[in-house]
This record gives sequence, structure tokens and C-alpha cells, in this order.
Amino acid sequence: MHLHKYEKIWIAFGTGSLLVFLTILGIGAFYQGTQPPSCLVTLDPANVQAHESFKEENLGLHQVGENEYVVNVLATAFNYDLGKDAEGNTVRKIRIPAGSKVTFQATTSDVVHGFQLAGTNVNMMLEPGYISDYVTTLNTPGEYTLLCNEYCGLGHHLMMAVVEVY
Ligand code: CUA
Repeated sequence: MHLHKYEKIWIAFGTGSLLVFLTILGIGAFYQGTQPPSCLVTLDPANVQAHESFKEENLGLHQVGENEYVVNVLATAFNYDLGKDAEGNTVRKIRIPAGSKVTFQATTSDVVHGFQLAGTNVNMMLEPGYISDYVTTLNTPGEYTLLCNEYCGLGHHLMMAVVEVY
């Protein structure tokens, strides 16, 4: 088969473009390994308590400004630890006034977990050794379910907590 000169040029151009694309994709995907996008802070997953935010007494909801809150969450199989209330009971639900600026900070001390606040944009992957954070403003009152969207074992579907915006 005889190939026209322009066909050869276009085939060469097409092949070249594909190689460039695959090279960029390959470098982009694996450069510096994989890690959650928001994770610039690392910690020791075997000793998360060493980090101020994940000390037992610092877990859960904290008001840090007039309209500003921080929520520290430690995920483990199969639980989101939001700390204890004043009576020493495990917190399953936190309440935040509508319109507040909220920073969620979360990590895991065992395997990879998800951190999705259903019905909002809050959606993070938690990887051992990294702190994931998400800053948002929750404007619409309602009860939002915090759930795990990374399969993490037999109790995966049991991982949940509630954030109420009022
Ligand atoms: Cu934790 Cu699925």
C-alpha cells in the first residue's frame, strides 16, 4: 500500500501526540507517589495522639471564632471519633449554626477511610499518616450524615456520624 506524504506526517504527529500524552499522564499520576490532595501535613498513624488536633480531649467540635468552627475527627475501623461530651458520653452528632465557616480536620489510625458529608461538597479520603482538611460553609439547616465511602472492612457500612446544621 502506498501512503501519501501527508498521511505519513499525520500518522507520525498522531503517534507523537499519544506518546507525549501518556508520558505526561504517567508522570502526573505517579510523581511523588499518591496521596490525598489536601494532605500537606503528616503525622505518625501509630501515635495520632501526639498531634495536638487528635489528642482525645481535642476531638470533635470547637468554636474558634465568632462564626468559625473546627471539627477534629479520628477515623478508625469502624468509627468516627468525635470525642466525648461533658458527661463523658461518646459524641455521635455535632451541631453547627448555619452560615458558620467550618474546618474539618481528619485522619485515620489504621486503614484508608472515606469522609463524606452526604449532601454537601465535603468529601475527603483519609490515609494513614496524613491529615486531610476541608474548609466549608454550611448554609442549609438540616441533618447531614458523615459516612465512609472507601471500603475498609466488614464494618464499613457502620461508619457514620451526624452533623446537624441549625
Ligand atoms: Cu471506613 Cu469504609
